[in-house]
Amino acid sequence: MKEELNILIQAQYPLIYLVTSEEERAEQAISTIAQTSKPQRRVYVWTVTHGIVEYGQPRNVTQHNTVSPEAAIEWIIRQREPGIFILKDLHPFIDAPATTRSLRDAIAGFKNTQKSIVLMSPMQQVPIELEKEVVVLDFPLPDMGELNKVLNHHLDSYRGRRLPTDGREKLLRAALGLTKDEAEKVYRKAQVTSGRLTENEVDIVLSEKKQLIRRNGILEYIEEDATIDAVGGLEELKKWLKQRSNAFTERAREYGLPQPKGMLILGVPGCGKSLIAKTTSRLWGLPILRLDMGRVYDGSMVGRSEANLRNALKTAESISPAILFIDELDKSFAGSAGSGDSDGGTSSRIFGSFLTWMQEKKSPVFVMATANRVERLPGEFLRKGRFDEIFFVDLPTPEERQQIFNIHLSQRRKDISRFDLEQLSKMSDGFSGAEIEQAIVAAMYEAFAQDREFTQLDIIAAIKATLPLSRTMQEQVTALRDWARQRARPAAASVAEYQRMEF
Ligand SMILES: Nc1ncnc2c1ncn2[C@@H]1O[C@H](COP(=O)(O)OP(=O)(O)OP(=O)(O)O)[C@@H](O)[C@H]1O
Ligand SMILES: [Mg+2]
Repeated sequence: MKEELNILIQAQYPLIYLVTSEEERAEQAISTIAQTSKPQRRVYVWTVTHGIVEYGQPRNVTQHNTVSPEAAIEWIIRQREPGIFILKDLHPFIDAPATTRSLRDAIAGFKNTQKSIVLMSPMQQVPIELEKEVVVLDFPLPDMGELNKVLNHHLDSYRGRRLPTDGREKLLRAALGLTKDEAEKVYRKAQVTSGRLTENEVDIVLSEKKQLIRRNGILEYIEEDATIDAVGGLEELKKWLKQRSNAFTERAREYGLPQPKGMLILGVPGCGKSLIAKTTSRLWGLPILRLDMGRVYDGSMVGRSEANLRNALKTAESISPAILFIDELDKSFAGSAGSGDSDGGTSSRIFGSFLTWMQEKKSPVFVMATANRVERLPGEFLRKGRFDEIFFVDLPTPEERQQIFNIHLSQRRKDISRFDLEQLSKMSDGFSGAEIEQAIVAAMYEAFAQDREFTQLDIIAAIKATLPLSRTMQEQVTALRDWARQRARPAAASVAEYQRMEF
């Protein structure tokens, strides 16, 4: 991607918008590009505090009277020499008519002048007038090579021991997804915590990284202890997932397999969609990050939501191979399906950028999305090829209910031989997995209050006291089922078995 920036500058693109919060790294990269380009170019940096200063010069060696954006751009227009002009954090001013206008004037006169303006800012904000003239580029987070430099620098300054290749790679991988400053901080913290930085400190680096990622509030590392065996039934879905356990290995690529892109799990509430998504992390041995769509939306400033989404996706990519978990997709993109632009079109723009990302992503980020209101999902999501597979999770069959009782009782008691699972399954017709679990918990409360062990009868009483969702929301469940039968693959069993079943 730095390569891309280089190409744009060499190709004399007049206006480049570089989205990054790492100013120093980005400036260094631009300066390297400027030095190696022919003819060499000078680099100037504008800030609203100092005006224009040549890159590498002390801040007080500023060009006279260039603090205001328009004056700075006027100054840039007057330059005859080849140059790269970095405007830092212009975004609060960019919507002002005079700024937009002078930028347009500037780039109009840039043809064959070897001059480029680079707008550098942590968020993307491009006025409509400039949309056609500007190329937007995300400055990538440090790769393994750059992190290696950070690590070496760190080890030198602590006169650390040389690391074996394995340990080094683990420490580098653990810091992927962080900015350079963050990586430095995390290595230092690990060093200070345990007095050295070796392979044994990888966990410290990882847990620091988790905190840093959590702080940005949009992505969340999920730690799920349950394994896929904690999910009852859904055999087809489990088989599909198990088959892909090694899908992100080098070996799979050599075999000629494409990288899995993602899956969508549709279904009735409380039937294990979120649970199975979370346990896939263990099964595949990949980290799982939840993307909180609600937090992506930020009405405080135009362009903020897009920037949030881009940052989150960038982080996920830099940690890849990883699973990106979007729970309740239908709620996330609700605004873009029907109601139109009640939010000024933000949600449909976000939705658009997300789809584009899904379409174009090359990095091994597996999207795992769940939803239960199909009619709220924009049709584009369901189109073939977007996801590798769309699964439908229905209410559990009688056998599946037995399994779910078994799982939840076994999680709570060592010996469960006193329970008649078949009877429990029969009595709980129409129950979801969540409702089965609730019935067990309710039975336990009842018995606990009477200071005794809970029994089969307590559970039966709890079942009888429950009105399952499938009955209170019968119409929705039936509609969802009818819809999904034609379009999605049943998670529970093979199609043939499925068709034989009565619900
Ligand atoms: N198939 C199942 N096997 C075992 N436990 C289950 C199963 N389905 C549901 N449960 C229990 O119910 C809880 C809630 O299920 P989960 O959150 O996965 O449902 P969901 O399908 O995501 O529902 P929603 O659509 O409401 O988000 C789980 O944490 C689990 O304890
Ligand atoms: Mg859920």
